[in-house]
Amino acid sequence: MSARKPYVGGNWKMNLNGQQAVELASQLADGFTAGDQVQATVFPAFTHLEKVGKALDDKNSPIQLGAQDFYHQPNGAYTGEVSIAMLKDVGASVMLVGHSERRHVIGEPDTLINDKVLAALEAGLEVILCIGEKIEQREADKTHHINTGQLGYGLAGVSDAQMARVTIAYEPVWAIGTGKTATSQDAQETHQVIRQALWFLYNDDIANAVRIQYGGSCKPSNAVELFSQADIDGGLIGGAALKSEDFLAILQAAANSAGVPA
Ligand code: PGA
Repeated sequence: MSARKPYVGGNWKMNLNGQQAVELASQLADGFTAGDQVQATVFPAFTHLEKVGKALDDKNSPIQLGAQDFYHQPNGAYTGEVSIAMLKDVGASVMLVGHSERRHVIGEPDTLINDKVLAALEAGLEVILCIGEKIEQREADKTHHINTGQLGYGLAGVSDAQMARVTIAYEPVWAIGTGKTATSQDAQETHQVIRQALWFLYNDDIANAVRIQYGGSCKPSNAVELFSQADIDGGLIGGAALKSEDFLAILQAAANSAGVPA
């Protein structure tokens, strides 16, 4: 049996106004009762963090508050950036790092991603490190090479102890927001390779303990099948995280997958 607690993140990206964000948070807080079986975090836009955190706290929800991005320097002349301390101050406890939109739309390199991973862990926060191949890399048979490379770069200098606060999200770039999902077999195969790479970088215990989420057009209709795979420990959800009934159904699928033999 896998002892890993499934983990589902809701990445709201640059969506929702403040009122919609609070309404969604409050509906999720009402509907999510499986906090013992599933870890859940939502990642609203920076400007909504404080109010979403309050909406969750008001209902004593176990849903954690996460930030979609941050800058790794503690303070200073970095116009437009937001520090870890500022995010902690508004209640964020989880940091998303290396999302494909930050890698490929904004242009963040692996070195910056590694700086961010290290800074968030140093600050005592949890990290979800996203990795994933583009379609041309998959077609050139480079899927495993790309994912293990991004994993190794992203985790450079992360200690064994710090790995207890790291989750990996495998998100094939071609599946994000496109409606195309990796088949559960393809996703499982890549998750298994990522877990082997964790064994190579760390050890057996860490490889077995780290949660690896799947992301990329995950929705209620495919979550059950994806989460039933031995090395898929939940998901990082974009589009389907914006509707409470869809996100709650995905959380339920994760709860049902808990304790499935791995
Ligand atoms: P999607 O996004 O579910 O809309 O494909 C996933 C993500 O980017 O984390």
